[in-house]
Amino acid sequence: MAVLLTGGAGYIGSHTAVELLNEGYEVVIADDLSNSSEEAIRRVEKITGKTVSFYRCDVREWEALNRIFADNSIEAVIHFAGLKAVGESVREPLRYYRVNLDAAMTVLEGMQTHGVKRFVFSSSATVYGAECPFPYTEDMETGGCTNPYGWTKFMIEQIVTDTAKATGMSAVLLRYFNPVGAHPSGLIGEDPAGIPNNLMPFVSQVAVGKLKRLNIFGNDYPTPDGTGVRDYIHIVDLAKGHVAALVYAEQHTGTEVFNLGRGSGVSVLELVENFERANDIKIPYVFTERREGDIAECWADTTKAKELLGWTAKLGLEDMCRDSWNWQRQNPNGYDE
Ligand code: NAD
Ligand code: WQD
Repeated sequence: MAVLLTGGAGYIGSHTAVELLNEGYEVVIADDLSNSSEEAIRRVEKITGKTVSFYRCDVREWEALNRIFADNSIEAVIHFAGLKAVGESVREPLRYYRVNLDAAMTVLEGMQTHGVKRFVFSSSATVYGAECPFPYTEDMETGGCTNPYGWTKFMIEQIVTDTAKATGMSAVLLRYFNPVGAHPSGLIGEDPAGIPNNLMPFVSQVAVGKLKRLNIFGNDYPTPDGTGVRDYIHIVDLAKGHVAALVYAEQHTGTEVFNLGRGSGVSVLELVENFERANDIKIPYVFTERREGDIAECWADTTKAKELLGWTAKLGLEDMCRDSWNWQRQNPNGYDE
């Protein structure tokens, strides 16, 4: 069975491609490489010893997308493609709404035209309201987004739900918490452009000497050590969650939503201490002001994924820290030579 991964050259898409190929699926990737490298696809092939059909295109281009569906017997789509930088979305809201909504709708139209009935979407914990009590459960009210990026996820969830209802498609909305880490081979990993916005890639770049020290955004939050608490999940666990979601979509119709997290909170200081211990490296840091828009804590209730998908995260914080460093150490400049 062939699965189309839009945005499959990116961080989450490339790791998901590995897990799908390992499970015997055929993988077709459509990516415009606007935030990724074709090298990631070559490395997916190296890890798995299997080939990927790659189309370099913007999935909003109807002709190109149509050709992909016509050339391959695609039975399911996992839609990763989109813009994802929160701060950039505040500065350029129209670009975010245009790209993310248009990409999702064009892919759904392509599926409808070619009779493809299974859809998995990369949503985010950011759709929950900041006022929701922790841990977040899937039935909690959404729409508390604090930035245009988050609103695109909220809107696409609605678009997918309405489309599934009208067409009889089966859709799975996956709300990721904080994916970190890399494939244990160190061949693929997260390769952010410029200075990383997210914690783990920043810590890894301090470790490799590209950045001087970590700025910890606030130590006066109402959390055990005063620093922000998040639900970090190993990228390989997250990728396996997509395989489970595909199987679920094969067996059900309608739309279902799942949290993909570990179900436990980790503070910034805990993550730094674990990174130092796991890798025997010192991470210099200073406390600075809180980052605008940050919440104190956020973690998932993962019961539903465990019960309905039969999926649960297996890897711990030490694995995440070890594998992030393994990738960064072997690829100090990411996929750039
Ligand atoms: P990524 O930027 O590494 O991957 C996205 C990929 O989509 C990139 O390879 C990019 O080149 C491609 N792309 C962007 N617009 C495209 C278009 N119009 N046509 C074709 N390709 C296009 O990001 P990621 O971290 O792998 O995230 C994948 C998805 O998961 C995104 O939708 C993101 O919003 C979502 N998500 C990510 C996180 C996270 O923390 N990484 C958390 C929650 C949700
Ligand atoms: C984690 C913690 C920071 C960097 C973001 C998006 C979210 C989702 C995942 C897509 C926080 C602290 C960070 C640094 C720090 N993406 N921190 N110094 O903010 O939970 O989530 O990525 O959907 O939408 O908002 O992740 O890794 O940026 O931050 O102290 O240099 O680390 O304050 O407490 P976040 P993050």
